[in-house]
Amino acid sequence: MKSIVIYYSMTGNTKRIAEAIHAGMSQSGYKCEIVSLKEVNIQRLFDYDLIGLGSYVDDFQEPASVTDFIKNMPSLRGKYGFTFCTHGTCPGQYIARMVRSLRRKGLIITGWNDWYGSVFLPFLAQPYYTDGHPDHIDLEEAMNFGKEILERSRRISEGETHLIPRLPRKEKYNKRYGDLSVLDDLNVVPGFESERLTQEDMKVLKPRLNVEKCKYPKCTICVDNCPTQSIHPSQSPPINHDTCRPCSLWFCEQLCPTGAIEVNWEPIIRTEKLRKVLFNWLAEPMKKYKDLRHFRSLISPEEEGRDKPLYKINKHPRIILRDGVARVRK
Ligand SMILES: Cc1cc2nc3c(=O)[nH]c(=O)nc-3n(C[C@H](O)[C@H](O)[C@H](O)COP(=O)(O)O)c2cc1C
Repeated sequence: MKSIVIYYSMTGNTKRIAEAIHAGMSQSGYKCEIVSLKEVNIQRLFDYDLIGLGSYVDDFQEPASVTDFIKNMPSLRGKYGFTFCTHGTCPGQYIARMVRSLRRKGLIITGWNDWYGSVFLPFLAQPYYTDGHPDHIDLEEAMNFGKEILERSRRISEGETHLIPRLPRKEKYNKRYGDLSVLDDLNVVPGFESERLTQEDMKVLKPRLNVEKCKYPKCTICVDNCPTQSIHPSQSPPINHDTCRPCSLWFCEQLCPTGAIEVNWEPIIRTEKLRKVLFNWLAEPMKKYKDLRHFRSLISPEEEGRDKPLYKINKHPRIILRDGVARVRK
């Protein structure tokens, strides 16, 4: 059973999980490849019997690049597939949407799984609940998942079709992956309507390039890591604001070693009080899911509740990437 694991990862959590799944699958002795979504040759996908596709969760579903990738996939009728993700406690519709859209491409879905991952959103209190994940226990679990998914897919391909899993039904699904109906009630949060970020604020929050501080072409970290390929320092304007749909991570700003990518954080500062109220309000249902899903906190009690959003770190870069895996500057 020739297999491939495809991952899309910004800060490295999904990459590490994908590598562990790949390691588990490789133990079977079958040929198994691993590749990032940016590098995959979509026309060659038919060469594989089993295709795994996973990413981080973005706004309770898959990131737009993954949606587009699946749309562009050829029909893979009769092949086998699985999906996986990392998230900061609420994957929401991710698993259901991925399973359905991969099935629409003809794949027989043999399984799925999700893991917690550290979160680097610049305006959240640090450390975030899930920081430190995935740890060695998560990686071992991912390795076992890789072994199992390959074995299950092989048995299904030999006729054991009763092993094909079913998506849990609505209520069971929501209990497991997060009930998004909680978001319908955001208006009950004091100040939500009057103080939340507006479209105008989002324009103010667009990153700008200060060419005097920029070290391009010696440094290309923003260009290499922009999820929408919107940064071209030698062109005018250097950042294409039509395609720079906010990655909401302000990844370029956080990674830039000289502070050449600048963001006016004023709207974030203005709405800080609301964000705290919102965060605490959302924390209640989150705690429930964490209990349900055996969450292991890796934050020491002294660090819990420490309020130090990344955007307030004045040194650059705020986030350091090594082999595609992010960590916060100490
Ligand atoms: C723009 C953005 C949106 C996110 N939305 C969600 C979400 O809806 N639910 C959730 O649980 N985590 C969410 N997260 C957290 C990420 O899914 C989590 O940090 C993930 O492990 C990152 O994976 P990566 O390191 O592979 O990029 C979001 C993160 C970002 C940057």
